[in-house]
Amino acid sequence: MSKIVVLGGAGFLGKRICQAGVNAGFQVTSLTRSGKPPRGVTHHDAHWLTKVQWQSADLFDPSSYKHHLVDAHTVVHSVGILLENQNYKTAVNSNSSVLSEFVNFVKPSNPLAKIPRNTYTEVNRDSALLLAETYVAETKVDSPSFVYISADRGFPGLPSGYITSKREAEVELSLLKGLKCLFARPGFMFDEDVHDDTMRETIHKFVDALDWGNKTLLGSRIPVLNDLVRPTISTQRVAHEIVDSIQNNRFNGVLSLDEMLHK
Ligand SMILES: NC(=O)c1ccc[n+]([C@@H]2O[C@H](COP(=O)([O-])OP(=O)(O)OC[C@H]3O[C@@H](n4cnc5c(N)ncnc54)[C@H](OP(=O)(O)O)[C@@H]3O)[C@@H](O)[C@H]2O)c1
Repeated sequence: MSKIVVLGGAGFLGKRICQAGVNAGFQVTSLTRSGKPPRGVTHHDAHWLTKVQWQSADLFDPSSYKHHLVDAHTVVHSVGILLENQNYKTAVNSNSSVLSEFVNFVKPSNPLAKIPRNTYTEVNRDSALLLAETYVAETKVDSPSFVYISADRGFPGLPSGYITSKREAEVELSLLKGLKCLFARPGFMFDEDVHDDTMRETIHKFVDALDWGNKTLLGSRIPVLNDLVRPTISTQRVAHEIVDSIQNNRFNGVLSLDEMLHK
C-alpha cells in the first residue's frame, strides 16, 4: 500500500486530502503540531478518521517528522496563511457573518509586530522548501513526489506577499532535483458538508453571488472582472483531484482551479 504524508492533514483542506487518500486505498499519515484528528462533520467521517495515523510534528523542525518521510511515496504540504495576522483564522470560523470584521484583518499591520514564523515567506514558502529538501534527503522510495497547495491568485486588498510567496515556492520547488512536483491552485474553498453561520460561509455565498452575477448578468464579457471574480471550489473536489493525480502519477506542474473545476 503506497503511503501519503500530509503536513496539515487535520486542516480545512488537509482533512479532505486524508479522506480521499484513505478512500483511494493509500496508507495516510497526517502531521500537525497538535497531532489531533479533526472533528468529523457527518457520520461518514467516523470511518475514514480511524484509518489515518494522526501524528504530531512541527514543519519548522525536520527532526520531528523526517522519520515519517522515509517510506512515503508522496508528501503533501497543506499549510499556509492568507494573512500574517493569524487571528483571521478564528474570525473566519466564528459565527460572525459580518464581513467588515474580516476586512479589519486585511488592514496593513505594523511589520515590527509580526510574530516570527508567521510571515508569508516563512509559512507559505520556506516551510515547503524545508519539507521538500528534508524529504529528498530522507526518502528511500523510487521517484518520490510532492504536492504543494498553492493558490489561484490574489485579490484586491490582500497583501501581494500572499500570492508572491506561493509563486516563489512553486519556482523553487520545481528546481529541486529528484522530486516530481504538483502545484494545486485552488481558489476560495468551502466544505460540501458544512452549512453553518460562520464568516467563511458568508464569504462563500458572497463570492458565489459575484461569480453568478458576472457569468449570468454580464456574460463574462469584461476581462478585468473575470480576473477578479473567480469561482469557489469545494475542499472535497480539490482533494479528489489531488489524489487522482497521485494515483495516476500526474505530476505535471500546475493543477489550476479551472482544471479542477471542469475535469
Ligand atoms: N482555505 C482556503 O480557502 C484556501 C484557498 C486557497 C489556498 N489555500 C491553501 O490551502 C492550504 C491549506 O489551507 P487550510 O485552509 O486547509 O489551512 P488550515 O485549516 O489553517 O490548516 C492548516 C493545518 O496545518 C497545521 N499546521 C500549521 N502550522 C504547522 C506547523 N508549523 N507544523 C505542522 N503543522 C502545522 C495546522 O494544525 P496545527 O495548528 O495543530 O499545527 C492545520 O492542521 C494552505 O496552503 C492555504 O494557503 C487555502
